[in-house]
Amino acid sequence: MKSNFKNQKVLVRVDFNVPMTSDHKISDNTRIVKAMPTLNYILENGGSLILISHLGRPTKSLDENGNINVEKFTLRYMIPELEAQFGKKVDFASDCIGEEAVQKAAALKPGEILLLENLRFYKEEEKGDEEFAKKLASLATYFVFDAFGTAHRKHASTFYVSALFDKDHKDLGFLVHEEYQSANRLLNNPERPYTSIIGGAKVSDKIKLLDKLISVSDNILIGGGMAYTFIKAQGGEIGNSLFEPDYIQTARDILANAKAKGINFMLPEDSVISEKFSDAGEAKIVKSSEVPSDWMALDIGPEAIKKVFGSHKEFQIYNVERTTGCF
Ligand code: 3PG
Repeated sequence: MKSNFKNQKVLVRVDFNVPMTSDHKISDNTRIVKAMPTLNYILENGGSLILISHLGRPTKSLDENGNINVEKFTLRYMIPELEAQFGKKVDFASDCIGEEAVQKAAALKPGEILLLENLRFYKEEEKGDEEFAKKLASLATYFVFDAFGTAHRKHASTFYVSALFDKDHKDLGFLVHEEYQSANRLLNNPERPYTSIIGGAKVSDKIKLLDKLISVSDNILIGGGMAYTFIKAQGGEIGNSLFEPDYIQTARDILANAKAKGINFMLPEDSVISEKFSDAGEAKIVKSSEVPSDWMALDIGPEAIKKVFGSHKEFQIYNVERTTGCF
């Protein structure tokens, strides 16, 4: 990145899509911590910050009246964490475009920080709407993309905003560089034994990644919702668990490919299940391939945890690299 941001108002696309508890506390601040080197660098070099991010998928979980659940998805509750990280005040605009954002962005002085409300309160964000992107871009004089975890999305704030700044007025942040370098090393020249741990809801999002990891890994551990597409593909009963019917054959192909290459491809033996996707539901432990109908698997179970970590008093595997996205 360049070393002089004097008087630049820098729009930074970060990925602050962090897990929040129901009482609005951040339960894992990794993504925020990992964004700090870029953000501090811009401030130390004379710039001010306009931070933009999404949190969750608010347009996909509208309330009964078809409205966005602002309380659940607002970025407002991140202010205390950000102020602790920066050690200074962070201002907030309760709309990522519009008069308040324009005025607060215009008034920013070098060293000051403004966080804008959740980009996904506008459906235009995920649609990649260029007019929406222009409104975001108009707030700033410089654009930095450091949202590695969201780099695979062609959204207004990730793709279209960038096109509105010329090459002398935009850059990638340190997190993107760091993740790119470690992904390169892990995919092409890893130390062995090499274990890949992959989670998330969908096989479909990670096909290419799985194909690549099968070509380099010694062990592959699958968790998250995507495990149940594989378990279903093996003939397991998964009840109402998340799975992708269109990817059953793909899952079979991946399993066959892993077997042919002699890779230890591990799916969770047991799972925590419930009838509801909610803290309030009753929880039971069952074999992952024996989930009763009307129940859904929501987490890996104790046997699965023991199998992976059983020989370790604590999680003490050396050279664990954690990525803020799925590269
Ligand atoms: C993530 O958590 O994977 C990123 O923030 C992207 O979020 P998304 O899958 O809702 O686009």
